[in-house]
Amino acid sequence: MIELKNVNKSYSERTVLCIDSLEIKKGERLSLTGANGSGKSTLLKIIAGVIPYNGKVNVPGRVLYMPQKTVLFDMSVLHNVTYSLTGKRKEKEEKAMEALRKTGLSELYNKNALTLSGGEGARLALARILVNDCDVLLLDEPTGAVDIEGTEIIENAVKEYSEKNGCTLITATHSPLQAKRLSRRVIMLEKGEIAEDCTPEELLLNPKTDFGKKFVSMWRY
Ligand SMILES: Nc1ncnc2c1ncn2[C@@H]1O[C@H](COP(=O)(O)OP(=O)(O)OP(=O)(O)O)[C@@H](O)[C@H]1O
Ligand SMILES: [Mg+2]
Repeated sequence: MIELKNVNKSYSERTVLCIDSLEIKKGERLSLTGANGSGKSTLLKIIAGVIPYNGKVNVPGRVLYMPQKTVLFDMSVLHNVTYSLTGKRKEKEEKAMEALRKTGLSELYNKNALTLSGGEGARLALARILVNDCDVLLLDEPTGAVDIEGTEIIENAVKEYSEKNGCTLITATHSPLQAKRLSRRVIMLEKGEIAEDCTPEELLLNPKTDFGKKFVSMWRY
């Protein structure tokens, strides 16, 4: 189980995240939502262990983290996936090609990754995740720059991966509908604090806070 207790993150004395208590069960699928600047990425970075913070955070097992801004290497699409793998070259390439097929990129395997479009780049970042096992998968707006078809490809690949691995999945998203498709629990952050913690259906149909109501009503447009 992932546990956070009295977690606080400030930049230049401005608090951007303040969480008294949060528990996420092993294998749970959770979405994080909330307005720009509400602290979604900050929370994921803290769970990933890539930024300092105050408080107690316990994240057991191996964590894989896909940041909001995709970082690709100046090498082929295929090599971007194989570089993190060990073993024989042929086996690494077979594994990578399977991940590229799942993310709809197999035809682009030989292209330089830096020439990919934003949406293709996001799918490549996911393909790199799919070739490794983990206990906790953190995805920061994995479909932020992705079209409808690409979104479906990514969501299907993520669902298949997390079901097969039994990993805990935490996805930051601006879409309550994506939260519903990917998870059974959604946390809405408002100015760095937990404003709602419920099922995606509850958030869509019956948000408790004024902020939740406004957020969801805007989504109906
Ligand atoms: N390195 C930093 N230095 C100063 N302020 C920061 C830094 N990183 C984040 N912040 C601030 O912390 C707050 C929360 O940022 P965060 O990236 O977690 O928001 P978010 O919910 O992910 O937003 P978005 O939907 O735009 O991705 C913002 O006000 C942001 O400006
Ligand atoms: Mg963010």
